[in-house]
Amino acid sequence: MADRQSGESGGETLRRAGLVKEVRHFIGGEYVDSIDAKTFESINPADNQPIARVAEGSAADADRAVAAARKAFETWSTMSPTARKAILLRVADRIDERADELAEWETRDMGKPIVDSRTKDVPRSAHNFRFFADYQEMVGTHSYDKPWEKTFGYELREPIGVVAAISPWNFPLMLLTWKVAPALAFGCTVVAKPAEQSPVTASILAEICIEAGMPDGVFNVVQGFGPDAAGEALTRHPDVDAVTFTGESNTGRAIMAASSGGLKKLSFELGGKSPCIVFGDADLDAAVDGALRGVFYNQGEVCLAGSRILVHRSIYDEFCARMVGGIARWPVGDPFDPSTRVGPLVSTEHMEKVLGYIDLAESEGGKRLIGGGRVTDGALARGNFVEPTIFADVDNSMRACREEIFGPVAAVMPFDSTDEAIETANDSPYGLAGMVWTKNLDTAHDAARRMKTGNVWVNCFFVRDLRLPFGGYKQSGVGREGGEYSYEFFTESKAVVIKFD
Ligand code: NAI
Ligand code: MG
Repeated sequence: MADRQSGESGGETLRRAGLVKEVRHFIGGEYVDSIDAKTFESINPADNQPIARVAEGSAADADRAVAAARKAFETWSTMSPTARKAILLRVADRIDERADELAEWETRDMGKPIVDSRTKDVPRSAHNFRFFADYQEMVGTHSYDKPWEKTFGYELREPIGVVAAISPWNFPLMLLTWKVAPALAFGCTVVAKPAEQSPVTASILAEICIEAGMPDGVFNVVQGFGPDAAGEALTRHPDVDAVTFTGESNTGRAIMAASSGGLKKLSFELGGKSPCIVFGDADLDAAVDGALRGVFYNQGEVCLAGSRILVHRSIYDEFCARMVGGIARWPVGDPFDPSTRVGPLVSTEHMEKVLGYIDLAESEGGKRLIGGGRVTDGALARGNFVEPTIFADVDNSMRACREEIFGPVAAVMPFDSTDEAIETANDSPYGLAGMVWTKNLDTAHDAARRMKTGNVWVNCFFVRDLRLPFGGYKQSGVGREGGEYSYEFFTESKAVVIKFD
């Protein structure tokens, strides 16, 4: 039965099953079960116990959500920017007001340290709404005057229509809102498909949209899986106009193929294997801190992770020793403990994959300086905890340097010249981000220009400005989002030319 105000229902069933939360789809302003009544469990990766029973969406549920979004499009897309802004700002305020609850669910659902959920993910989610609420009211279009031909041309922008937003589990609410906020702000309606590993906060966001007074059908959530399920159905759906996706590069390929029939507009943010280059003149304390944060933040489950660390030979030994010493600042533990910096990996399956890469790196000749195993002290034995691990003396041709591990595993290697560092950095199928540590402005500019990556950070890391383009070169993405780039993606532009006498 549909229940408008809350995703929870069937308290009795929940108690019998010993589960905490029931998560349903949110379609046309109502929480609903799957048409075929199917469900699946979401687990807490800290102890692998179920924490939620989740509606498992099929193509029929995706269909219903797209129909609701299409119906709402007429009203939402023609609403005044000021009216839309008021609603989106209320969403941001409600995210702030419910921040503790959202942060706790994020941590429980996918394992990130509570400190990060509370101080990074949730505030940034609110900021995504505030930024685009303001931006859509200010942005304009170009005009081109041709008096010698007595014509005047201008550009009209129109919301593209119904957007499918398919998001991953590593920053569930932050990355979802990074798509949903601009889509809604520029007048599109949305069907979101959160990752199956982390369904809860998207469902709470739907509640927040009701509280903010968003009209029914403007924001919809279909829960469930990707291939042969709700996710794929959205990418094939004839009434979905654009797909914004963040996830693995292989999934991007599958979505491109599936959506090709409808020639949909696509925006992909995909994987990475980002280089962190430390030049001989770098501020060593800052560079060591930055390199550690770059690879161990969020358990290394970060597309941008600086997982290949290139260090000038003149400081190589000292840098490696300092990284090992710095590991103490990245304690593994219960993600609800405020001193924890590294939580469990999202699933047992993912942990096995990461441990497999650690074995592989060793067999390929990497020298393991520290870490390398599961953490099984006390209660942690029930979860998917992996030690922060550092390999030195790796070769960039190793699989552990070419493939995305998506866990707390650093690969460190020496270089002798700037040319060699840039060449090695660019020798990757990916091109999402690059980090440069140097005190020399010429070196910084030179490296920034030559790096084949969508983002370059000099003497800093993970610093985001929502006005800047975000996306990747090569296998790391298609298109850019952020400020005017999101405006471009979520709208169609039309050229109007008028002849006058
Ligand atoms: P994934 O690609 O397996 O899944 C992401 C989402 O796509 C999930 O919602 C999933 O259900 C859905 N999906 C899977 N197959 C689909 C299909 N055939 N059709 C439609 N939807 C489908 O990625 P995962 O494992 O959830 O996330 C980790 C990956 O995401 C990493 O490779 C990471 O690099 C990448 N990522 C990239 C970011 C970026 O901005 N470039 C940011 C965060 C993560
Ligand atoms: Mg989960």
